Amino acid sequence: DLLKNKKLNAIVTTGPTKEYIDPIRFISNESSGKQGYEIALELSRMGIKTTLISGPTKLTYSSDIKVKKVISGNEMLAAVKKKLPIHIAVCVAAVSDFKPVSIKKNKIKKDYKISEIKIENNADILDFLGKSNRYKPKLLVGFAAESENLIQNSFKKMKSKFCDIIIANDISKKDVGFNSDFNEVIIIDKNGKVHKIRKNSKRFIASIIAKKIADTFLLNEKKFN
Ligand code: CTP
Repeated sequence: DLLKNKKLNAIVTTGPTKEYIDPIRFISNESSGKQGYEIALELSRMGIKTTLISGPTKLTYSSDIKVKKVISGNEMLAAVKKKLPIHIAVCVAAVSDFKPVSIKKNKIKKDYKISEIKIENNADILDFLGKSNRYKPKLLVGFAAESENLIQNSFKKMKSKFCDIIIANDISKKDVGFNSDFNEVIIIDKNGKVHKIRKNSKRFIASIIAKKIADTFLLNEKKFN
């Protein structure tokens, strides 16, 4: 109720992005979009006005939440910018780190010199939000997909992208993560507090993450008022 009275807005990015090379080929990432979707649902249930900004997924989204569908990382960034300023941003999306410099109008032929496809880095949405002077959300949450040194690397990522909370995901585990309804994560906050959530459904994990978000938001408010 404390939250409902505050009339808070949130965005959650989720899913992969597709970076088209020609009309039928693209660069993308493994990602079902499920964990971000469940977090958005849970924030909504808590009374926070939430928009899910989703890359291409196979999910059927509940009509309980607002969903903005996008394809590329640039479209995702534009959709995020349209929602600013925002109280809470949760970046769960597996945005492709790479994209072709330009999209070819016609299907590339087999004998095309593959080395002529120029690739560049995509915009980093979480980094943009964390470093924005005008639009830094009051609470910024990131995810970290790591295959080694999970806690150290995730902590570094949190600091370098100016997040308040980072959710560490060990992508070397086969039974949880992007192809599963289950996940196992470690919640790390700015103060270095580490909370491991053992293997459970993405819905359950989302409820713990949403609670951490709400608690941290309210605590920060208290500190600054
Ligand atoms: N992220 C983003 N935009 C990108 C890349 C990442 O918003 N272009 C966000 C993700 O949603 C996640 C966090 O940044 O919240 C970390 O993503 P991750 O893939 O773990 O790391 P990268 O920043 O891509 O770094 P690296 O691949 O070197 O580990």
